Amino acid sequence: CGIVAYVGHREACPLVIKGLKRLEYRGYDSAGVALMNGHGLKIYKKKGKVAALEHELDGKETHATIGMGHTRWATHGEPNDVNAHPHYSFHRKLAIIHNGIIENYAAIKQALLKKGHTFSSDTDTEVLGQFIEDIWEHQAGASNAGTLEDAVRLALQEVVGAYAIVIMNEADPTQLIAARKGSPLVIGVGENEFFLASDATPIVEYTKDVIYLNDYEIAVIKDGTLKVVTLDNTTTTPYVHKIELELEAIEKGGFDHFMLKEIFEQPRSIADSMRGRVQADDATLQLGGLRDYLDKLAKSKRIVIIGCGTSWHAGLVAEYIFEELARIPVEVEYASEFRYRNPIIKEGDIVIAISQSGETADTLAAIELAKSKGATIFGVCNVVGSSIARATDAGAYTHAGPEIGVASTKAFTAQVTVLTLMALAAAKRKGTISDSLFRQLLAELESIPAKVEKVLQAADKIKEIAYIFTYARNFIYLGRGLNFPVALEGALKLKEISYIHAEGYPAAEMKHGPIALIDEDMPVVVIATKDSSYEKIVSNIQEVKARKGRVIAITTEGDTHLPGIVDFTIEIPKVHEVLVPLVSVVPLQLLAYDIAVMRGRNVDQPRNLAKSVTVE
Ligand code: G6P
Repeated sequence: CGIVAYVGHREACPLVIKGLKRLEYRGYDSAGVALMNGHGLKIYKKKGKVAALEHELDGKETHATIGMGHTRWATHGEPNDVNAHPHYSFHRKLAIIHNGIIENYAAIKQALLKKGHTFSSDTDTEVLGQFIEDIWEHQAGASNAGTLEDAVRLALQEVVGAYAIVIMNEADPTQLIAARKGSPLVIGVGENEFFLASDATPIVEYTKDVIYLNDYEIAVIKDGTLKVVTLDNTTTTPYVHKIELELEAIEKGGFDHFMLKEIFEQPRSIADSMRGRVQADDATLQLGGLRDYLDKLAKSKRIVIIGCGTSWHAGLVAEYIFEELARIPVEVEYASEFRYRNPIIKEGDIVIAISQSGETADTLAAIELAKSKGATIFGVCNVVGSSIARATDAGAYTHAGPEIGVASTKAFTAQVTVLTLMALAAAKRKGTISDSLFRQLLAELESIPAKVEKVLQAADKIKEIAYIFTYARNFIYLGRGLNFPVALEGALKLKEISYIHAEGYPAAEMKHGPIALIDEDMPVVVIATKDSSYEKIVSNIQEVKARKGRVIAITTEGDTHLPGIVDFTIEIPKVHEVLVPLVSVVPLQLLAYDIAVMRGRNVDQPRNLAKSVTVE
């Protein structure tokens, strides 16, 4: 689900195609473009990757100074050429692209069918396009005064759901109309040219000046000028942000895949997430974005953490850390569950929303719900200026830099780092941590990047293990304590990109079910670092070995006991128990990556997955 549009003096088609490629990481299953050069509007669309669309465009007339493109992640209607965007409405010659879901599209469609409209696709987007057209036509018939802008505004007032849309009008080759509610849209402002996109990655190489459109706002670009109005027709003055994103940050830089680049970036991204915040020498810790809220956090009776996917796993790690250090009870919830079950929020509760993209629809909706119940909300987001970052009361950015690989890696370690800092700050304020432990943990945190670097040096050994298990059909991941969420995360990585079925389990729970699956064909990855549950996990490993399971153990450097018991070991440096996930997750990321590559999978864009899930 990605949007790119351009109007200005450049050739629109190559720019839009390049932009769609920059957005490929978001995940999609078909792509299309609409192009215009004063001789009518042309639409090309194709199931599959942007490369297939490019092939389709070969030899076609694509000269245009205005154009838009879309990558679609199917919601209504299967992924095929017809359902791909843009959609065209014939009466008023409009083309529309859309991210999100129009929830009341069926009712609107019924009404339009009664009026004689016909539809060529199964999408809610085509319905929205024709709805706008119908309103426009109707108005024009009545008073001859309505403009397309009015029609878009009136139509969107009736729409229930989430959207980011861009519309092109065949009658005006200078005009682009865009609107958003719940689905991101960024406008790049150049010299006599405008760029629209779902995020800033397609825009950075042309301009650093961007406007983040707000919910219920419509941007009207016409004759080289931009106007922003709200759905109730109030003109607003958009704020132009300077983005810091550099082009190199969104390119592969010599790595075969973005995911591998991002795994290897972790020593730097973890350091970046602490930069300016941690000073171990004089035992200081500062989180600027939480300064005014630290008391509230320290005094909170309960913390509810919400997130999805990998961010939810980071939340599970944080649960252990907050409870251990700050002695505040923590609940971790899937945002999608939280929002639909009338959750209990009491005064003094803090909600922490974790999201790499800052755009996940379920997380955003959960925040709105928690807000309506009076909770104070903190955000832990990676994308600066994202919807979740803006919807929260306070927060701390993870500063991991753009994450392009769909499977999250460096965002996870940055989230865990920042959440650890939050827990430490709360513990310090609350007085639940001794000065010496506080100092020790800050110093340990500063040493994490070098320790992750050391794990990365074992990449070749991990590759050898991956080679042996390339064709395994199932995997089990086990861990205890803070390494239990790491087991979940390791299993998720493998599932996402290699399509091998994998389950993460708390090691002791294995005997209540998964043990039945263990035989000589079952690889079991056990995170068995030397910490308080070491003896216990060694017993769990024995249980697996007794049933002939093949054990790959993540061990602490210098452990001479486990190599004699298990089939393979991957050593990681000794880390304080509270910080161990930051290091123990890294070999699991590499293992998943290597297996996926060996199986010939599309690592950066695994099938069916999206990077930023803006639908619920
Ligand atoms: C998608 C991505 C995952 C991510 C999850 C939550 O499923 O593929 O990698 O963990 O969304 O996304 P968020 O941006 O909110 O962290």
